[in-house]
Amino acid sequence: MKNNYVTDDILNIGASDNTINLFEGQYTLKNGMSYNSYLIKDDKNVVIDTIDEAVTDIWLKNLEEGLNGEKIDYLVVSHMEPDHAYNIGMLAKKYPDMKIVGNQFTFNILSNFFDIDNVEERKILVKEGDILDTGKHKLQFFMAPMVHWPEVMVTYDQESKILFAADAFGKFGSLDVDEEWDDEARRYYFGIVGKFGMQVQALLAKAGTLDIKTICPLHGPILKDNLSYYIDKYAIWGGYKPEKKGVYIPCASIYGNSLKAAYKMKEILEEKGIEVKVDDLDRCDWAEAVANSFKYLHVIFIASSYNAGVFPPMLHLLEHLKDRNYQGRKVGIIENGSWAPSSGRTMKNILNDMKNIEIVEPMVTIKSRMKENNIEEMKKLADELMK
Ligand code: FEO
Repeated sequence: MKNNYVTDDILNIGASDNTINLFEGQYTLKNGMSYNSYLIKDDKNVVIDTIDEAVTDIWLKNLEEGLNGEKIDYLVVSHMEPDHAYNIGMLAKKYPDMKIVGNQFTFNILSNFFDIDNVEERKILVKEGDILDTGKHKLQFFMAPMVHWPEVMVTYDQESKILFAADAFGKFGSLDVDEEWDDEARRYYFGIVGKFGMQVQALLAKAGTLDIKTICPLHGPILKDNLSYYIDKYAIWGGYKPEKKGVYIPCASIYGNSLKAAYKMKEILEEKGIEVKVDDLDRCDWAEAVANSFKYLHVIFIASSYNAGVFPPMLHLLEHLKDRNYQGRKVGIIENGSWAPSSGRTMKNILNDMKNIEIVEPMVTIKSRMKENNIEEMKKLADELMK
């Protein structure tokens, strides 16, 4: 990616990696990944975050072009995760006069990753609301702990009214790909920071006090228009609220009989005019299944029994949901088993450990294949769920 001017004197010097297919070792990427990094040209030049190892060369070229022979005065470290912080050590060596701006947590973690010469003299320790005056720009720092690590802070430039938002408002996907924001931003959100809804809400409350014209995240496009759309999405996601009326049906089926029940359930609900999405958990992307579970108002979990428990693709989904504080939903359960069905009880126990999950009766038990009595129970379940 070439240098991208955000304003006359602020550049995105980041880069996209179009070859990466797995982020953080677990999220499948369909269209690569972007890593933003920002250069503010002022009396004092500021870099906001470095970049992932894989795109170091492109970033360095963008940085040098942007600096045009000048030096860096400050490196603001929003986040110490290596997808942004990998090059801090190298940059500190290359620009020995560069000061490093962070909070106490930043420097605790920084010393785990790097040995930086004269770090004590070079560090500028900031706390909530502190301002760094670089000439024209006044950079104000706000702490955003656990969005997505404890040291995360965001930077608000009072001059340009830009919020440099760290991981918040990011998405999966290279900037070279033209794709809709919502789906990959939602999958990214629930995958990466879904557990920390309270902290996201705290950050939104701080952002609500600022006059923000542009959001510059560390991943994904710079957001300039219709900011309330993105902020509203974050308020819904951070508040664990459903985004869409309708029913999501994740299904873990061994031989396809449970999946037939999932599609029958879809038919029953659609006859009532309800929007339904079915995912075959054996084959779909698990992070998309997590995002869909949060997206829809209701969920019906359908799974085969396995080893006196539940078939692992469903166990995997439920563990991810629990880990991300899944809450406040009315759900249904359909189990399948040939001699001693166990998946319903197992799913129920996991769901009962979550906050404000109402499990609607009847729980439907299929013995090997769906029969007429099961269809009647499924109709009852649909009625109860939609009450
Ligand atoms: Fe994009 Fe939490 O790092």
